[in-house]
Amino acid sequence: MYEPIKSRPWAILLAAGKGTRISSSANDIPKQFILYKNKPLYWHSALKMSFSAVIGGIIFVFPQAFFETESARLNKLCINNSFSIPWKAVIGGETRNDSVAAGLAHIPVSVSHILIHDAARPFFKTSLLKEICRKLDDGFKAVIPGIPVVDTIKLCKINEPDKVEKTLPRDRLLAIQTPQAFDAIEIRNAHQAATTNLSNVTDDACLIEKAGHEVCIVPGDPENIKITYPADLSLLTSRNNNLIPCSGFGYDAHRFGPGRVLKLGGIEIPGDLQIIAHSDGDVLLHALMDAILGCACLGDIGQFFPDHDPKYEGISSSILLQHILLEVDRLGVKIYHVDLTLVAQKPRIANFRQAIQKNLARLLDLSLEMVNFKATTEEKMGFTGSMEGIKAYAIVNAWRNV
Ligand code: CTP
Ligand code: MG
Repeated sequence: MYEPIKSRPWAILLAAGKGTRISSSANDIPKQFILYKNKPLYWHSALKMSFSAVIGGIIFVFPQAFFETESARLNKLCINNSFSIPWKAVIGGETRNDSVAAGLAHIPVSVSHILIHDAARPFFKTSLLKEICRKLDDGFKAVIPGIPVVDTIKLCKINEPDKVEKTLPRDRLLAIQTPQAFDAIEIRNAHQAATTNLSNVTDDACLIEKAGHEVCIVPGDPENIKITYPADLSLLTSRNNNLIPCSGFGYDAHRFGPGRVLKLGGIEIPGDLQIIAHSDGDVLLHALMDAILGCACLGDIGQFFPDHDPKYEGISSSILLQHILLEVDRLGVKIYHVDLTLVAQKPRIANFRQAIQKNLARLLDLSLEMVNFKATTEEKMGFTGSMEGIKAYAIVNAWRNV
């Protein structure tokens, strides 16, 4: 029979370490801030917790030096992802235990259970959270995930790391992971009682063991790896290749009138036709930019370049396009095909078609066979037919990292 889970622990997400063992390969960014699927590593644990329906709230623990910038980034992530549980960011300490203590101090006293998780372990499964909470419901004061050790474990001699003292029996050895969960009173007491040097304490359950309580072990997951050494970074890149196809659609229109020389796809069209516009009024590039933003779900160009901002007055749309391409590139969008349609009674574009197609391919860094440009009239109907204005449509196809 299905039993609903009663425990609703708050989580402390530890992200205040320096990541010294990985730093040579991580541009000195603490590992918890490395981008994985375009989001900081710690965020993946947080999102999974918020989706799990068993976590009541999250305390994010950040290093002092990164606190301001990371809190701002986290705030945006929470808003953009409609983060649904209460959260708070706090400053951690010198050791992992100091950071846990900082987290404990900010969890409401009414909370009955506390879960502690290393932000450097982004691959745990939501089912593990549920399994842990069920054991809390059963009354255990501490629940931790463990996996059987597969290698033979030897103990080396004190101060002689190259000499074996003895071989440990492997059948009862377990490698312990996070998340670990605790009765709130017990973990608070254990932390307060711990007076010895805590720098050797690498998990929280050992404090509960020291306090004489039984610690319950649930099956861990070999994939729940803690990113620790440079070689572990390949786990992030290999899992990062989860590409999905996406498409974006764009539309734009401009009025003919005294103002800007007509430009289409970054190419100036000689003749008398002029466009009224704040920027250079390149209707084709504007439709293209909106379609590109569509692939990245980033809204429209008006949000990036407001048409009342003097700094965009007369600006070349090719420059704006470069900016948009950078924005979507950061989200892992790779454009592979575009199809653009100009709708205009005039000009006749036969003489410019190739130049426009070529320039679009150059601006997008695509081969010519991946760029289609065509034009049509509306048979003298509508605002294009009456030569009031000009319009364009664009469709962009891309791959996107998820
Ligand atoms: N941690 C923390 N505060 C500290 C030290 C560690 O919040 N003062 C966090 C880390 O950010 C990490 C987790 O504890 O998520 C596990 O620690 P570890 O893997 O040792 O991370 P680092 O201490 O950052 O790495 P290193 O030991 O290589 O410096
Ligand atoms: Mg450490």
